[in-house]
Formats: sequence, structure tokens, C-alpha cells
Amino acid sequence: MQKYIMSGFFFTACILALVLIFTLPGKEEVAKEAKPSMPEVVLDAAAAETLVKANCISCHGDQLQGGAGPNLQKIGSTLSPEEIYSLVGKGKGIMPAFKGSLKEEEIANVAQFLATKK
Ligand code: HEC
Repeated sequence: MQKYIMSGFFFTACILALVLIFTLPGKEEVAKEAKPSMPEVVLDAAAAETLVKANCISCHGDQLQGGAGPNLQKIGSTLSPEEIYSLVGKGKGIMPAFKGSLKEEEIANVAQFLATKK
């Protein structure tokens, strides 16, 4: 009887170990969470333009020609969407961070929109 209980226990432990192996996040996933990547959004140019008008043109100009901040009319040829996403989220110099005021998806949309400007 004791033998059956022990093997039953061992079997359960094996199943549990297998479940853990497949459900615990791997190293790559943990690394991803520490450095959040840009959420995938489908570019909505109209929404992005509205966001840019409301948040960015005061410094970057109504045609993105520049002002207090640099010209962004060809920003897509120097920065990738991910780089713009990270910069807008964190801010740079006197440019404020937009992580608190805009949703991640909104920043990602604006980043993709600006990245098309080449
Ligand atoms: C308070 C003024 C201000 C506002 C508002 C502002 N920016 Fe900026 N932005 C700047 C300044 C100044 C820089 C240059 C920072 C530096 O290099 O030190 C800059 C840099 C950038 C750059 C990098 C440009 C390059 O050539 O490297 C991008 C992209 C950018 N801003 C996008 C945005 C977007 C998108 C918004 C709106 C969501 C925004 N900015 C709002 C002032 C502003």
C-alpha cells in the first residue's frame, strides 16, 4: 500500500514539474517585461494627427517645421518607430515625457505616424 501512495505522489510531482516548466515565463519573456516594447497598433493617421496637434505642435510647429523643438518633417528617415516611441514616452531635454498623459497605444500610433515622414 505504502508503495502505491509513494508512486502516486511521485507521479503527481512529475506532472506538477512539467506544468511549471511550460507555464513559468522563460528568460526572454522576463527580459521583455523589464524593457517594454512598443505595443502593436494599426496606424491611424487621423487619430495620430489629432494627438500631434494637441500635444506636440506647440514646440514642433503646426507643420512640424520646428520651433522650440526640432523639425520633425523628415524624422522617419533618422528614427525608427520604436526609437520615436521610446523618446516620446520618456521625454528628452526640455521635451516632457508623455507616458503619463498619453496611452501607450496612442504614443505608438503617433510614433508610427511620424516614422512615415521621410
Ligand atoms: C515642451 C516642448 C515640446 C513638446 C510639447 C514636444 N516636444 Fe518633442 N522635442 C522637444 C525638444 C526641445 C526636443 C529636442 C530634445 C533634445 O534633443 O534635447 C524634442 C525632440 C523630439 C524628437 C526627436 C527629434 C530628433 O531629431 O531627434 C521627437 C521625435 C519628438 N520630439 C516628438 C515629439 C512628439 C511626438 C510630441 C508630442 C507627443 C512632442 N515631441 C512634444 C520639445 C517638445
